[in-house]
Amino acid sequence: MNNLAYDVLIVGGGGAGLRAAVAAVEADSRLSVGVVSKVYPMRSHTVSAEGGLAAVVRDDDNLDSHAFDTIKGSDFLADQDVVEAFVKEAPDEAIQLEHWGCPWSRDQDGRVSVRAFGGMTVKRTLYAADKTGFHMLHALFQTSLKYTSIHRHDEFFVTSLLVEEGRVCGVAALNLQSGGLQAIQAKAVILSTGGGGRIFPFTTNAAIKTGDGMAMAYRAGCPLKDMEFVQYHPTGLPGTGILMTEASRGEGGYLVNSEGDRYLSEYVPGKMELGPRDILSRSFVHELRAGRVFEDEQGQYVHLDLRHLGEKVIDEKLPFVRELTRNYVGIDPVHDPIPVRPVVHYMMGGVHTDIDGRTPIEGLYSAGECACVSLNGANRLGSNSLTECLVFGARAGKSAAAHAMEQDQQRLGALEHLTREEEERIKSRFFSEAPEEESIADIRTDLQKAMEAGAGIYRTREGLEKACEDIAGLRRRYDNVRVQDHSNVFNTQLTAAIELGFMLDVAESLAHSALRREESRGSHARSDFEERNDDAFLQHSLAYRGVEDGDTPRIDYLPATITRWQPEERTY
Ligand code: FUM
Repeated sequence: MNNLAYDVLIVGGGGAGLRAAVAAVEADSRLSVGVVSKVYPMRSHTVSAEGGLAAVVRDDDNLDSHAFDTIKGSDFLADQDVVEAFVKEAPDEAIQLEHWGCPWSRDQDGRVSVRAFGGMTVKRTLYAADKTGFHMLHALFQTSLKYTSIHRHDEFFVTSLLVEEGRVCGVAALNLQSGGLQAIQAKAVILSTGGGGRIFPFTTNAAIKTGDGMAMAYRAGCPLKDMEFVQYHPTGLPGTGILMTEASRGEGGYLVNSEGDRYLSEYVPGKMELGPRDILSRSFVHELRAGRVFEDEQGQYVHLDLRHLGEKVIDEKLPFVRELTRNYVGIDPVHDPIPVRPVVHYMMGGVHTDIDGRTPIEGLYSAGECACVSLNGANRLGSNSLTECLVFGARAGKSAAAHAMEQDQQRLGALEHLTREEEERIKSRFFSEAPEEESIADIRTDLQKAMEAGAGIYRTREGLEKACEDIAGLRRRYDNVRVQDHSNVFNTQLTAAIELGFMLDVAESLAHSALRREESRGSHARSDFEERNDDAFLQHSLAYRGVEDGDTPRIDYLPATITRWQPEERTY
C-alpha cells in the first residue's frame, strides 16, 4: 500500500483548515502537514461568506463589549472562557490576515472600515465589500502556498477516521481521480469540514456541506455537542436559498412586510433589522401566520428594501448583492425590493472540543463550523464565524502540532489493516446485491423534508418525535442503497451515497438532542416549552452515537462555563 504520512493532517481546506495548517507549520517548521479536501480549497464554502469578520479594532469599541454581545447572542450558553479568548485574539488575527493579503475595505481616512451587524452594539465587522469570504480564503490559500512543508491532496474524499486503541492514526480517503482508497497516516488529525446544512431542503450551504467531519467523529465515538441549535439566516432568496448578506441591513436596509410596514418594530424595537438572527427568523414566521407576507410562485417572502441607500452605496458596499439579485431573481436592488425569507445557514453544534480544538479522542482535533468549541451557544452572531475559523483554526493547529511533536508514528501494520477493513466495508456496503434498491436522491429529499417539518424554526415534542422516527426509517432504507456506477474516475454516485450516510448521522444527533431539550433558548424554539430554563438546561448537550445499529443516540449534558456574565433575560 502506497502510504502517505504526516505529522498533522487537516481534513478540509476552508478557512479553519488553512489557518490551522499555517499555525501548525509556524509552530514548528520540522513538522509535515497534509491538507486533504474533497474539493479544491478555493471551492470550500468559506469562499461564499459575504458580510464580514467581527473583531475589536476601533477606539469606540472594547473586548468586554464584543464578549457580552456574543454571550447575550448565544442566549448565555456560550462558554465564557472561550468567548474571552476569542475576542482577545480576534484583532491580531484580523490584522494578520491583512498582512497576508486580505484587502479590507477602508474609510476615506485610511482606517479599516467597520460595519454594523446583528446583535452587535457597535460597528465592529471588518469586510471586503460583500465578498469577504472570497478574499479571506484567497489570502489564507496564498499564504499556505509559501510553506513547502504543507502538502495538499485536493479532491480526496475522506471516508473514515482510522483509530487504533483509542488513538487516531490517520484517515482513509478516496482519491477521486483514480478511485483508489488511500491511507493517510498522521499523528494528529484536525477535522475542519464545515457544517451540514444540506440535511435541510432550503439552505445557503453549498452542496458539499454534508456534515462529513461531524459524522466521522461521531462514528469514532466522539460526542457531537449542542447539535439542536441550527441557525436560520433571516434573508435568503426564495427558491435558491442564496444568501442576501446581513451587511445589507448593516448598511441600512429595511425589512418590510406585505402591508408596507417595517414589522420588526413589533418584535425587536431596540434593534430592528439589526436584531439577532434567531429572533428575526421567528418574526418572519409570525408575519407569515398573520398573513402579512408576499406569496407567488417563488413561495412566501418579505421584502429587503435597499432602494433608499442609493446606487453608489450599493455598488461600493454591496456589489455582490446587486450581482446575485440581477442574476437569480431578475431584479435590481437599486430600483426594486428584494424578496427574502429565512434559510438554514449555520450549525452552532458540532464536534465537541475544548478551547484548543482538542476532542476526547486522542490525537483528534476540530475547528470551524465542524467543531463546537462553545463560542456560539444557542445562537451565533453574524460575522463571528469567520473570526472563529481564524482564532480556533490557529489554536487547533498549534495544539495538534504540539501533540504531534510528542508522538511516534503509529505502527504501519495497524493502518494498513484498518484501511483494508474500510475498503471492504465500502465494497460490501455499496457494491453488493441488495434485495430491493433504494435511491440516494429519494432518501435525501425525504430526510430534508423530515428535518424541515420536525426541526425547523419552531419545534414541538410531537414534531421532533416524528423526525426521530422518520430518520430511523430512512436509516433502514439507506441500508438498501447501492451504487450502480462502478467506474473509478470521479464516481460521484459513490461519494453521494457516502455523504448521505454522514447526513443521516448528523440529522439523528440533531433531532434527538432537540427532543431532549425541553426549553426555548436561542435558535431552539419549542412551542411546548416557551421559556428558557436555566435550572435544567444551562448545559451543553452531548450526543453519543448508539453502539448497535438501530440504537438511538445517548444524550449527556455538560454545564456551560460562566466567568463574569450571569445569565439574564435576553431582550433587545
Ligand atoms: O449575512 C452574512 O453576511 C453572513 C455572515 C455570517 O454568517 O457570519
